[in-house]
Amino acid sequence: MSSTNNNIYPIKTKVSQAQRQKLLNQHATVIWFTGLSGSGKSTLAVQLEAQLHALGFKTYLLDGDNIRAGLNKDLTFTDDGRIENIRRIGEVSKLMLDAGVIVLSAFISPFQSDRTQVKNIVGEHNYIEVFVDAPLSVCEARDVKGLYKKARAGEVKNFTGIDSPYEAPVRPDIHIPTHELSLDESIAKLMGYILEKIKLK
Ligand code: PPS
Repeated sequence: MSSTNNNIYPIKTKVSQAQRQKLLNQHATVIWFTGLSGSGKSTLAVQLEAQLHALGFKTYLLDGDNIRAGLNKDLTFTDDGRIENIRRIGEVSKLMLDAGVIVLSAFISPFQSDRTQVKNIVGEHNYIEVFVDAPLSVCEARDVKGLYKKARAGEVKNFTGIDSPYEAPVRPDIHIPTHELSLDESIAKLMGYILEKIKLK
């Protein structure tokens, strides 16, 4: 998948990221949600985006199912497919960051090394990692999309938590145990941490 081309000469734009941020009056940041399928990533990201938007922040939400229906529809759920999925989303997040946007990215992103790569791509100071945490048994009981049932029956292969690994973040910026907190409590915790970080100083 990877290729090297030495004959590349990136242009320098006349408008800087700092100028775009100033125009939008916000500190462009990537809010990265990671967690098992059914842990609540999309629910939290959708709600958080709505609240940030209502406060006047310019946001964009990148979500696993949506991106895999378009940009990344050529990718599978093998380890390599997931690694390439997250690499591309890291690069897309970086472009959006350069545009001055608050990016909410909700992907299982099961591998620590890929999340670290994203952090490096977008810059440590622009990255907030949210661990959306619920035990596998809880996610499986929720089974919102019926995918756990299919995975247990062998109808879906390489399913995260069943026959594909999930490496929980060791030191996330925010930990949201969705089996213990209500949606409102979770959003309040997120807002409490994030609001200060995305204000332009
Ligand atoms: S990853 O691991 O970050 O590349 O996955 P992601 O792009 O976030 O896509 C996860 C959504 O894809 C659906 N789906 C699967 N998930 C996990 N494993 C397998 N095998 C699989 N097949 C399809 C599922 O709807 C995931 O959405 P969420 O919101 O996580 O439940």
